Amino acid sequence: MDYTECERLKKEIIPYLREHLKESRYVHTMNVTHLAKEMAARYGADVYKAEIAALLHDMAKYEKRPGVNMDFAHSKIGAEMSREIFGIEDEDILNAIANHTTGRAGMSTLEKIIFLADAIEPGRDYPCVDEIRAAAETDLDRACILSMARTIQHVLEQKGWYLHPDTVEAKKYLEEHLEEN
Ligand SMILES: [Fe+2]
Ligand SMILES: [Fe+2]
Repeated sequence: MDYTECERLKKEIIPYLREHLKESRYVHTMNVTHLAKEMAARYGADVYKAEIAALLHDMAKYEKRPGVNMDFAHSKIGAEMSREIFGIEDEDILNAIANHTTGRAGMSTLEKIIFLADAIEPGRDYPCVDEIRAAAETDLDRACILSMARTIQHVLEQKGWYLHPDTVEAKKYLEEHLEEN
């Protein structure tokens, strides 16, 4: 993606977000976008793709689908809607949107960036978020593992919460990959 294409998409996407997101979610999205661009520059990912993926990651947050739990499904539905409404065809952008909530085994650098930026943007506040932020300064994989470990522990501590297998698989994959290096 180049500057011109990115700017063209932003002119369509930002008014859409203004119309479809609550103010707090819009602010979160802008925080994620700012951080994702910084991280893309640091880790050698495409900054324009990071910007577009971050802008779109929660676009389906307030969509309603009968019988569907949108806490998880807004990611996959957001990727589908990004393709349909904005003509996004780039698989890495679509994967980053589709997997931002749970992660998955074998994430690309862009997917890791969107996953982490969503979890640690400045508006986020939970125990050990600063530890994950510090790790994200130097080691994308270790920061993802910390974030996933925290999610898994947090979900297991809550009664009736559902631990998504993709997060367990994503963490396992990263740990195995770390051991190879
Ligand atoms: Fe989300
Ligand atoms: Fe988000």
